[in-house]
Amino acid sequence: MSAKGKVFVSRIIPEAGLALIRAACNAEIWEDPLPPPADVLRSKLADIDGLVSLLTDKLDAAVLDHAPRLKVVSNFAVGFNNIDVPACTARGIAVGNTPGVLTDATADMAFCLLIAAARRVVEGHQYTLSGAWKTWEPLGHLGQDLAGRTIGIVGMGRIGYALARRCQRGWDMKVLYHDVYKNANAESELGAKQVDLPTLLRESDFVSLHADLNDATRGMIGAAQFKRMKRSAVLINTARGPLVDQKALADALKSGTIFAASLDVTDPEPPSMDDPLLKLPNVVIAPHIASATVETRNRMAEICAKNLIAGVTGQPLPAWVNPEVAPKRRT
Ligand code: DGY
Repeated sequence: MSAKGKVFVSRIIPEAGLALIRAACNAEIWEDPLPPPADVLRSKLADIDGLVSLLTDKLDAAVLDHAPRLKVVSNFAVGFNNIDVPACTARGIAVGNTPGVLTDATADMAFCLLIAAARRVVEGHQYTLSGAWKTWEPLGHLGQDLAGRTIGIVGMGRIGYALARRCQRGWDMKVLYHDVYKNANAESELGAKQVDLPTLLRESDFVSLHADLNDATRGMIGAAQFKRMKRSAVLINTARGPLVDQKALADALKSGTIFAASLDVTDPEPPSMDDPLLKLPNVVIAPHIASATVETRNRMAEICAKNLIAGVTGQPLPAWVNPEVAPKRRT
């Protein structure tokens, strides 16, 4: 082993993080714009101490078995559903993520998607480009009002709260939320009310998803849930694509069961070009860019680098997903 820990960075991340990594580690950086293929990632894992992974790098138990000396996986994301965390913990591998720094950027994007779908902005843009716009139309392009409506937040964590705050403070919306935990701050500051999912779906004008993806939440919004929603409702998803049954969403949008949807995430990513969703006028789909601002990605890169370096040198990680691994960390 070299004096500096050997690490593999599975994509070019902002220099704010790469510079720290290069200074502290013996780093190999994957420069291809596409993720390393699974067999390449496995071969890299054979002799590294640390890995910077992206949400496109699947790290399950079978893959981790190819990493005999790996001490840390530092995910360049707040979400870590690409990593089998219990399998890492069982092997003494620390896992880091990038919480906090992308909260505002993601909440801004969720709000941007909400307005875009409610006011049919992308559809209008396409209409203009197609040359179909002939005159001002009293009955054309009618969307949904925002002020004073009800936002339903599924998963009232940091990002859910930040969106709820924008909706309540800026647009005077009533806030409902569904979460296993009570968010006392949201209740006292925003007057938010915790309700079960059926109530939230029935009473909300806008439903925004901010839940983690796990076995309990996968497919949590499907045909039965769309039926409960208002016909004027808009669904926003900036969390993870598999929270939603995408085929049921396409059916709900096509049949008018709900008004529109606005997605920053899909299942899979990217969606197949023959996915029925892509043919519908009442859906907006962004390419998973909610955290994509210069400042946010720089801050993510810094935390990611600090987690990696702490993991390689046996220090506590600044943003540690599995601190319970501490007593049995690999040295
Ligand atoms: C995350 O951080 O989990 C996002 O999906 C990408 O920024």
